Amino acid sequence: MTQVMSPRIARLGVPREEDSQERCPAGSGPAARGGSLALRAHYDRIAPVYDQIRPKVLDSFSEHLGTIVETLDTRVGARVLDLGCGTGRYLAALADSVSLHTTGLDLSAGMLRMAQSRVSGRSALVCAHAETIPLPSESLDLVFCIYVDHHMASLASMLKECERTLRPGGHLVIVTSTIEQVKRFVLYRAAPELVTLEHRRLNPPEKLCREARSAGFSVSRVSSVDAPPGRVPAEFLSHIIRSRSLSVLARLRRHEVEAVAQHMDCLMHSEGLANVPVYGYVTLTFQKD
Ligand SMILES: C[S@@+](CC[C@H](N)C(=O)[O-])C[C@H]1O[C@@H](n2cnc3c(N)ncnc32)[C@H](O)[C@@H]1O
Repeated sequence: MTQVMSPRIARLGVPREEDSQERCPAGSGPAARGGSLALRAHYDRIAPVYDQIRPKVLDSFSEHLGTIVETLDTRVGARVLDLGCGTGRYLAALADSVSLHTTGLDLSAGMLRMAQSRVSGRSALVCAHAETIPLPSESLDLVFCIYVDHHMASLASMLKECERTLRPGGHLVIVTSTIEQVKRFVLYRAAPELVTLEHRRLNPPEKLCREARSAGFSVSRVSSVDAPPGRVPAEFLSHIIRSRSLSVLARLRRHEVEAVAQHMDCLMHSEGLANVPVYGYVTLTFQKD
């Protein structure tokens, strides 16, 4: 279902590559702006590989979102925002539901272009920063935020924006992984230094709950899936690492990435693994007070 929600969004639309930098507002302050630009450049570059990773890593996820939409008793015509929609895999699943009005928002024009080809007119798309959502107050019923919160310069600002744009009683659903879930994944067993990096950026569920309460939400539900279905083939994992297609790898130098890839190949070989289980995730559902 297509919905262009305001003239401002219609103007923003999905930018061309050459003008995306000017049109996407960054977070506040020079440091946040620098971080946002680097992150945007990273996602612009990896968009095609990222799009291949998603179904392999979170195979059953679209169904999971469908269940959430049902469980929350989402009404016909509900206005749903996928905050940090990436290449639009989950947005497309939501947009396929004729009863929802969907919008995808992302900082990266490269990711949005792929989302555009996937949702092709069934959803509005906005290139913007999640800490300054260009939507009117109380204009949404449900916000999904899937593997995005750890990228924020200010988690509090993102949550405050979700609170502002949701109607009273509306829901925010955040999906992320805990450090314990991530640590079990073969990549992190091969490269413990990456665990330290993830430790710094992942928001533990307790912190998300605390900050969401401060932003004006109640915690409705926290659920964890430790062993989702799906496996990643070894070859594909090597490709992901060597092409630096996970944002955590963008923080390493090229030779460090190669060392990580070799450690992981050795580990998989010594354990006789042709593919590995994907890592678990946590779903946190909040309701605006
Ligand atoms: C790990 S990907 C997740 C994409 C999608 N939700 C999914 O699960 O496939 C993170 C996404 O968040 C976007 N992103 C990162 N920081 C952002 C910000 N401050 N505002 C909006 N989008 C942001 C990135 O461009 C990227 O598409």
